[in-house]
Amino acid sequence: MLQEFLDQLSDWQTKATAALESVETLEALMSFQSEFLGKKSALQTFLKQIKDFSPEEKRAAGPAVQSLQQFIRDGFATKQSVLETAALEARLAEDWLDTTKSLPRVQGAMHPLSHVQYKIEDIFTRMGFQIADGPEVETEWNNFDALNIPPTHPARDMQDTFFVDRQHEDSRQNTVLRTHTSNLQIRSMLEQGAPLRLIAPGRVYRNEELDATHDAVFYQFECLVVDEGISMAHLKGTIEKFLEAFFEKPVKFRFRPGYFPFVEPGLEVDIWFEVPGKPGKWLELLGAGMVHPEVLKNCNIDPDKYSGFAFGLGLTRLAMMTYSIDDLRWLNQPKVDFLSQF
Ligand code: DAH
Repeated sequence: MLQEFLDQLSDWQTKATAALESVETLEALMSFQSEFLGKKSALQTFLKQIKDFSPEEKRAAGPAVQSLQQFIRDGFATKQSVLETAALEARLAEDWLDTTKSLPRVQGAMHPLSHVQYKIEDIFTRMGFQIADGPEVETEWNNFDALNIPPTHPARDMQDTFFVDRQHEDSRQNTVLRTHTSNLQIRSMLEQGAPLRLIAPGRVYRNEELDATHDAVFYQFECLVVDEGISMAHLKGTIEKFLEAFFEKPVKFRFRPGYFPFVEPGLEVDIWFEVPGKPGKWLELLGAGMVHPEVLKNCNIDPDKYSGFAFGLGLTRLAMMTYSIDDLRWLNQPKVDFLSQF
């Protein structure tokens, strides 16, 4: 009886040793623990069986089971410590970072729109222009009325507007997301009076159907010169100088009559655009004209003494042309692969 029992213990010890040897992960070790040390393990059965022995046999059976239990516990603890150390070392090896070496190179780059904006600012500051800035949430009056676009004027339909607040009677109290940078003409003339020479780059908003060439958010820049004796010749000369400096070569351009309520006469300017491998074509690039006397008056500038020219154009468009980007949605995505090309 006793001998049979002791043989079972010895078989079980052999089995446990083999099982423990094949354990390679902490999960497998947990299964081992429940199988060999758990409440339903053979060990518990052995412990219960002790009471069936005679007192004399118990003196042999008891310590034998206890030593088997200790043997399995020791084996478990040793294995656990080996596996935990290995797991920690693996994690440390993976997370390890040599801070004395330079970090992985994910280099930032300037956005193509910024490149274009800075280039334009550079060209105009060299010609003595100042750079004006203003808020994107603008009064309805600055964005429309002061620019000679009254509420009922059909020209308002040209610019699908996001209103922020339109509950007031007085358009000076209503607010819109500015639909163009022309509002900076008004702000600057009201703040500084004449004479004036400035450009105003900035972000503008339109409530539009979105596609590859239309976005609800895009960039423009505005140019305004007000002084005594300003004529169309100054407008033409400035545009010519600007285009030549921007494209870094003489650019063929033409004026066509155009309508904008804040200029009279109003013009549209096309440039001759050629991409290698494609036939050249006229591209509509900017709106321009002589500042309307009503606009000057709205800004407390005497139209009998002063005259001015203005033009506005899409910075986004210019960036797309410069870098041959055919879908403007690229410009609004924070994709390093795209941005790092510039
Ligand atoms: N504000 C016009 C637009 O967003 C562009 C424009 C046209 C600006 C004529 C001007 C101008 O300064 O004279 O479409």
